[in-house]
Amino acid sequence: MKYLYYNSEDYLCFEKVDLSSTVATYPTPFYIYSAEEIRRNCKDVLSCSGSLDFLPCYALKANYNPSLLKIIKQMNFGTDVVSGGELFFALKSGIPPEKIVFAGVGKSKDEISRAVNEGIYSINIESKSELDQVMTVANKLQKKIVIAIRVNPDIDAKTHPYISTGLHSSKFGVTRDMALQLYRQASQSSYIEPSGIHVHIGSQIETIEPYLATVKFLKALITQLEDEGIPIRYIDLGGGIGIDYQHQLNGNEKPNTYIKKILPGLLKPFKNEKRKVLIELGRSIVGSAGLLITKILYVKETPHKKFIIVDSAMNNLIRPSLYNAYHQILPLNHKENLTEVVDIVGPVCETSDFFAKDRSLPVLNEGDYLAITGAGAYGQALSSNYNLRPMIAEYLVEDNRVQTIFKGESIETIASKYKT
Ligand code: LLP
Repeated sequence: MKYLYYNSEDYLCFEKVDLSSTVATYPTPFYIYSAEEIRRNCKDVLSCSGSLDFLPCYALKANYNPSLLKIIKQMNFGTDVVSGGELFFALKSGIPPEKIVFAGVGKSKDEISRAVNEGIYSINIESKSELDQVMTVANKLQKKIVIAIRVNPDIDAKTHPYISTGLHSSKFGVTRDMALQLYRQASQSSYIEPSGIHVHIGSQIETIEPYLATVKFLKALITQLEDEGIPIRYIDLGGGIGIDYQHQLNGNEKPNTYIKKILPGLLKPFKNEKRKVLIELGRSIVGSAGLLITKILYVKETPHKKFIIVDSAMNNLIRPSLYNAYHQILPLNHKENLTEVVDIVGPVCETSDFFAKDRSLPVLNEGDYLAITGAGAYGQALSSNYNLRPMIAEYLVEDNRVQTIFKGESIETIASKYKT
């Protein structure tokens, strides 16, 4: 489906909305999302499951805006949460507790108590100490809780090292031997049901091979557990399916996520099993559905470089600074055929405050607007008030109308949180 394209007059359109009309109405910078693109991504996921007993969960960390959660909930997704805050937002958005899984290496006693009390689907255990803590809480509350042990398969997801989580050198999960010990320990408790297995090898994964190696590892471990009399009822395969950051402009209806490239093959090995399969996708659900719209403040030429200084910054979208991540950048009006090589930078006082380096783009002028694409995931969710820059507004395109879904902050709202 064509959703980000230039119209015949060379104006960039998002669904049927000409983005130059939104910048005429709303001050920049802002995020804008497409409800329909989120639905399409959810449908792509659902279309891969066939007759499998399948629970797709949305990894809320990618973008926690409640209006987006509402859309995802309507698509019958559960959620993967990693904090008490995310659990709160998931429940408040109406996600049923039995569709919520709780991951993360450092859940506090309070967070565990809340999860147990709410009766969520499962807590994913990341260490022996955490299992001890969950057992203590469940005993005290006299409430049953299902758990999965997160295993670390020591598999290279072939992604950026900062978002690679399945290697032994990473803090996530436990080794196969430790997992066996934890299952044995948990199966002694009358309140804990250790019937799941969890894995998450990393994020922005573009090929199926690391996933298939993970499935092989999981299957061997499940066989061993079941031989010991510990039945595994469900498998949580984690998230990590990437999006095509290079080609978000999809005038020719190019696929912009890797859902259909990876998911059918990943689910196939489970088709003939009775077990339930969960996945925890974040980026591939909302990543392609969001743009960061920014205005060019100044064009600055030095003897060495041409800098395009825009009104948004690393505090709004930190991915380029943090991971050297590539985001396709498109002028809202593509009137210029000449290109030149520039750096797109923000106003924050850090050399790492850039959106693109040495990028060939159509010649740009002060006052022009740009869309930074693929910004729906880990954009606003990772933003901060650094340099005392307020959080920016978020808008949603729904039925080709634009509505405000986050008002943004003013400096006064920030100031009001402090003792004066
Ligand atoms: N499940 C677990 C346990 C996770 O830790 C994550 C992401 C996901 C699921 C969802 O992964 P996804 O489908 O979105 O790849 N800030 C980074 C990404 C960090 C991902 C952290 N964990 C970025 O901007 O690339």
